[in-house]
Amino acid sequence: MSEVAVDTNRFFEHFPVMLQESVETLVHKSDGVYIDATLGGAGHTIEIIKRLSADGVLFGIDQDREAIQAAKEAVGIEPRFHAIQGNFGYIDQLLPLDYHGKVDGILFDLGVSTHQIKEPERGFSFQEEGPLDMRMSADLTITAKSILNEWREEDLKQLFFSYGEEKLSKIIAREVVAQRPLETTQELRNVIQDVVKGPQTVKSIARIFQALRIEVNQELERLKMGLSAGANVLAPKGRLVAISYHSLEDRIVKQFFKSGNHEGVIEKDFYGNALKPFEEVIRGVQLPSEDEISRNSPSRSAKLRAVSYQPLEG
Ligand SMILES: C[S@@+](CC[C@H](N)C(=O)[O-])C[C@H]1O[C@@H](n2cnc3c(N)ncnc32)[C@H](O)[C@@H]1O
Repeated sequence: MSEVAVDTNRFFEHFPVMLQESVETLVHKSDGVYIDATLGGAGHTIEIIKRLSADGVLFGIDQDREAIQAAKEAVGIEPRFHAIQGNFGYIDQLLPLDYHGKVDGILFDLGVSTHQIKEPERGFSFQEEGPLDMRMSADLTITAKSILNEWREEDLKQLFFSYGEEKLSKIIAREVVAQRPLETTQELRNVIQDVVKGPQTVKSIARIFQALRIEVNQELERLKMGLSAGANVLAPKGRLVAISYHSLEDRIVKQFFKSGNHEGVIEKDFYGNALKPFEEVIRGVQLPSEDEISRNSPSRSAKLRAVSYQPLEG
């Protein structure tokens, strides 16, 4: 099993990750139509707007109302920019019909934002005391608290193992159940600290928080849906650009870009030629520069991938 890169203090200050590399790859026509599917604090969006001509259009999507508000303030008055609150899993339904089949590029900068992590009451940070919430959108109903207090021990173990790739899942799940009810991020942190000793403690805490966040927000399922729905609205040669931060996300992006589906099956034509809807724009994966990692350590786990859509003949 590949090790999950876990961010221990991601985004206390806001540095959009791989900003130039991702936006340069995304915007290949200045008068094009683009979607920033993960608007956040508008870091990438502002850079995209800089590269658009007067005829360019940019839609910014985020499921978090606070992010939408913050991004609108950051962008200011800008007629080419349209903010949409919603889940990128439904990107095709969120995008006005007029733009279907006309999108020149979609950016997914996955995970949580600076804004979300900075607010202790959202429950994303294990550095601060806060409720065990972790919802990126108030529309979501399940919280980290309900998972921790209501799930069976065996299911918690499986969650910590599958989405946190945490080797000590079993004893952590047992301890969570023993210490119920859990209300706050620091209570959860203490439970993990009680059973994981030594230099691995912080990584285990980060892995458990990551696992809960993924489940609460159904992140992997939404990512699969978002990539498929995004591909459906692309123009020929339109691009999908994704920055992922851990191996579970990256695996989904890599597989979809390679095969055009989530099963990873590359279809073949009558003559046995591979039918692939995407062509790599970046060969394999691009990583942040040493310089970026030294300026912004959370970027160290980032992986940038990009493909362009080549409609299949016939
Ligand atoms: C890493 S941040 C993006 C930061 C942004 N690129 C910037 O530079 O300011 C990810 C954002 O995507 C949003 N997000 C994550 N999953 C989403 C989903 N399924 N649908 C819509 N927004 C989502 C989060 O709410 C968060 O604001």
